[in-house]
Amino acid sequence: MSNTSVLNTHSMHSHTCGELTAADVGTNVRLTGWVNHRRDHGGLIFVDLRDRMGVTQCVFDPETIGADFASGERMRPEWVILIDGTVRPRPDEAANPNMSTGEIEVLVTGVQILNTAKTPPFAIEDGIETDELTRLKWRYLDIRRPEVLQALRLRSTVTAAMHRALYDRGFLEVETPILGRSTPEGARDFLVPSRANAGSFYALPQSPQLFKQLLMMGGVERYYQIARCFRDEDLRADRQPEFTQLDIEMSFIGEDDVIALMEDVMAEVLAAAGETHPFPLERMCYQEAMGRFGNDRPDTRFGLELVDVSDIVAGSGFKVFASAVESGGVVKAINAKGAGDLSRGEIDKVAAVATDHGAKGMAWIAFTSGGEAKSPIIKFFSDDEFAQLKERLGVQDGDLVVFGADDFEIVSAALSSVRLYLADLLGIKRTGHKLLWVVNFPMFKYDADEKRYAANHHPFTRILDEDLDKIESDPLACGSYSYDLVMNGYEVGGGTLRIHEPELQLRVLRALGFSDEEAQAQFGFLLDALSFGAPPHGGIALGLDRLIMLLGGFDSIRDVIAFPKTSSGGDPMTGAPAPVDSRQLRDLGIRLQ
Ligand code: AMO
Ligand code: AMP
Repeated sequence: MSNTSVLNTHSMHSHTCGELTAADVGTNVRLTGWVNHRRDHGGLIFVDLRDRMGVTQCVFDPETIGADFASGERMRPEWVILIDGTVRPRPDEAANPNMSTGEIEVLVTGVQILNTAKTPPFAIEDGIETDELTRLKWRYLDIRRPEVLQALRLRSTVTAAMHRALYDRGFLEVETPILGRSTPEGARDFLVPSRANAGSFYALPQSPQLFKQLLMMGGVERYYQIARCFRDEDLRADRQPEFTQLDIEMSFIGEDDVIALMEDVMAEVLAAAGETHPFPLERMCYQEAMGRFGNDRPDTRFGLELVDVSDIVAGSGFKVFASAVESGGVVKAINAKGAGDLSRGEIDKVAAVATDHGAKGMAWIAFTSGGEAKSPIIKFFSDDEFAQLKERLGVQDGDLVVFGADDFEIVSAALSSVRLYLADLLGIKRTGHKLLWVVNFPMFKYDADEKRYAANHHPFTRILDEDLDKIESDPLACGSYSYDLVMNGYEVGGGTLRIHEPELQLRVLRALGFSDEEAQAQFGFLLDALSFGAPPHGGIALGLDRLIMLLGGFDSIRDVIAFPKTSSGGDPMTGAPAPVDSRQLRDLGIRLQ
């Protein structure tokens, strides 16, 4: 058969490389795929043929295949081939119970080489230690590896479940513009120069936030989109400059409705991914999360909670503690059970985690399993203070108590990182999935650098009814209708009810430092839309990449994105971002500095 005729068939193969079993013995089959391995065994050649579904062992025997045996001898890894053959059982000793096709092999009767391949820069198999830069430079080869394909498959399974869940509940999938105006999600915008309007720029959306609200004003009532978002921020393992959200907005609903909807969607998503979780989910208010875990996305799969000891140490002789409390800060501690015998060097490493995350130091008391209390700071405490500390922290021999003393935010940031570090150090297993809601975030936070208030979520968030009178007088005391979905210590989603009255929206923009003219210039279209009968509405967005990362047990969202950017924002394969030629710039009216 010639190649042309193969290309004319509907499907080039009769089966995939992952489906033949003992039940197929005797069947004539045609398989296509990549040469995974070739082994010469005294007169016989074994070729493991791989496609996205699995691997099938194919046997070239000169007695069966005749002159085509020479093709088997030439075959190299990653060549693309088509084989015809007959399924036969493997001899017992050659069976491989770890492979779905491990009971059989295909005795090859004909072969076509569809393409040859250069030697790949790394092995196309799971568990390789090749550095990420190399894998991303040849990402299409990386994707051939079963574990990478598996991540993409999981992602597709999850998005299919999302589409199903929302379609079944009457949601309309609506696309929103990519070329738009800046939306204030808090990160820097990516800008796109306009050729037709030289000197003007589009901004890529940080999220479809304003458009989905405008869709509510358009009467859509139930919107969703699997939307690409763009944010120019410092990258981390769980942050990419472009990422994907499951974005949802609903009208005529309250907070409980959005939460219930999201839980329904999550239940179907988890089921599709082969996981379960109890519902309804726990709801923890922001203050409690910050108090107990120092963090608004707590990993509650283990203890090591933060304990406030400010009242006990306020009057102590240890100046660091006493003055922190006196100046309005806090002193908090973690009892690291079972860490009391750590060496001085190991404790210093814990302290380095605290200082890396903004603390000025990390005081500690080690209670050795031998019953000794070791610490440079014990001498500063009275017997009574020391006894109270031990009691509040439930100290036993063998425990290590670590302290943070500073402003609430600094102590929280430092000790929440220390908490995670201690969990790893103590070998506390963080397995299984734990989802919870963190709710009722403060509406505003104070941005000390910019010397003004900023929105915790975004400026369109609805302030709690009982706090509406404090917008001007005490912004930091205003709560909001807001809810973050937290999974295993990551923020996987966040949303709020929205302001639907133009006057209230203007008050909030003023509180954020916008003059009325600035508010009109930037958000006039929204204020206008709000004044044409905007329904009460609210919504949420789920970080799809983070969700898949957690469901698949990966360390980075780069592992679940087909073509991710490196931590410096580049694509080693295409070389993006790249300089452009001067003509392109001239057309855009742009001159580089
Ligand atoms: P928010 O900014 O909280 O809310 O984003 C929602 C979710 O998106 C994910 N996420 C990211 N994932 C990867 N890389 C990033 N750089 C990144 N940034 C955010 C997180 C986060 O929880 N419009 C609002 C939602 C709303 O109010 O309805 C919004 O975008 O998992
Ligand atoms: P010093 O008095 O500076 O020698 O500090 C004594 C101990 O207190 C050391 O273990 C420091 O790491 C710790 N320490 C210093 N500043 C702080 C702080 N802000 N919070 C907690 N511990 C601190």
